[in-house]
Amino acid sequence: MTLRISVIGTGYLGATHAACMAEFGHQVIGLDIDPDRVKKLNAGQSPMYEDNLEPLLERHTATGRLRFTTDYAELADWADVHFLCLGTPQGPDGAADLGQLESATRSLAPLLTRPTLVVGKSTVPVGTAVQLRALFQQLAPAGEQVELAWNPEFLREAFAVEDTLRPDRIVFGTDDGAGLELLREVYALPLSEATPVVECDYATAELIKTAANAFLATKISFINAMAQMCQAAGGDVTLLADAIGHDRRIGRQFLNAGLGFGGGCLPKDIRALATRADELGVGVLSDFIAGVEAINTGQRLEMAEMAVDQLAGDVTGKRIAVLGASFKPGTDDTRNSPALTVATALAERGAEIVVYDPQARVDWPGMSQASSVIEALTGADLVLHLTEWPEFRQLDPEQLAPLVTNRIVIDGRLKLHAPTWRRSGWKVVQMGRAATL
Ligand code: UDX
Repeated sequence: MTLRISVIGTGYLGATHAACMAEFGHQVIGLDIDPDRVKKLNAGQSPMYEDNLEPLLERHTATGRLRFTTDYAELADWADVHFLCLGTPQGPDGAADLGQLESATRSLAPLLTRPTLVVGKSTVPVGTAVQLRALFQQLAPAGEQVELAWNPEFLREAFAVEDTLRPDRIVFGTDDGAGLELLREVYALPLSEATPVVECDYATAELIKTAANAFLATKISFINAMAQMCQAAGGDVTLLADAIGHDRRIGRQFLNAGLGFGGGCLPKDIRALATRADELGVGVLSDFIAGVEAINTGQRLEMAEMAVDQLAGDVTGKRIAVLGASFKPGTDDTRNSPALTVATALAERGAEIVVYDPQARVDWPGMSQASSVIEALTGADLVLHLTEWPEFRQLDPEQLAPLVTNRIVIDGRLKLHAPTWRRSGWKVVQMGRAATL
């Protein structure tokens, strides 16, 4: 059945969710308070670099199934279901800042005059849904006829459309099943019967999302700690990851050692989980997460130290070429980018940093941006490979060798084919990989 769906907030999550809901066959209005963003979206343009999103936006804005507005009045009475896709950035104390969710609630609720289902998708601290439902019911003329459900989103940047159209699982958190029928209808037609659906209470739904992120972060920090062990003992962390990954209970994914995790989600979401755990007196969880975070931060510091070591302890005035600026390949997002943390640390120590990234723009003090790998490497005293865009793996080290003053590359993501580089006279430094491989 075709439903009328509103999507409030059009960041990575909201823009993708709105486009995918239209793809599922529903009528959709997306809302954002930023008029420029709304204008762009109505023209079928994606506000960020995200594979496969623009074709969906183009197609469905053209057919009229999808449009965007800044006006709550347009969608308040019109929609059967309102999805809340607002950002929950990190506040000064580490806790999630719920300001955007609260202000959206204050704008929407007074306009809700008939029975309505509101569905939260943002990543929030456990306990948020109960509070938001109370606020909706207090402010809405329809009062208790406004129901709230929690339906967390697990999409990855660079795969946002794929993950939304074909999720690994769907989670419906409700108060005793309220709104469940309608939620099942929203997702019923398009998703294969094989998609697992978990129906649970609010708290479980909220915690499932943060637990998934914390577990992924844990896998990465674990393998990075093992990389340090391999470095100390002379082992090879990539072979180790392959070998333990063959065990189906462990799995190979998220065991790529290197610079660690960044981006707009994992770092802030695990910090918020730790803060909430402390509030609830669950010190064992916040301590655990603190360990995961410490390893992750340590990788960035260690990488900067390795660069200084390769330049005999002093980077002042040295030209360092940095390959990759986004927090991972496939996106232009530089939020909490491990690559930029390392680059900044070296710039602060007096190095001249030249960054090349296929998509991300860098406007950072002490750094300049090159428009090609060749430009970045020309005259470089050291090369750092910090974000593993596939095109960096295809580079020809033979062709690059004459450009640099020192043939030294630090591969912070362990993705370059070291033997090929070494054959062309390069010194390849990879933390946790024996120099002979
Ligand atoms: C993540 C979660 O994967 C997603 O489910 C959630 O909804 C939002 O947060 P995203 O931030 O897009 O998604 O990035 P992800 O692909 O998970 O990568 C996170 C970071 O971990 C990146 O910086 C990446 O480079 C790093 N990473 C990932 C590793 O260092 N090693 C790995 O093996 C995998």
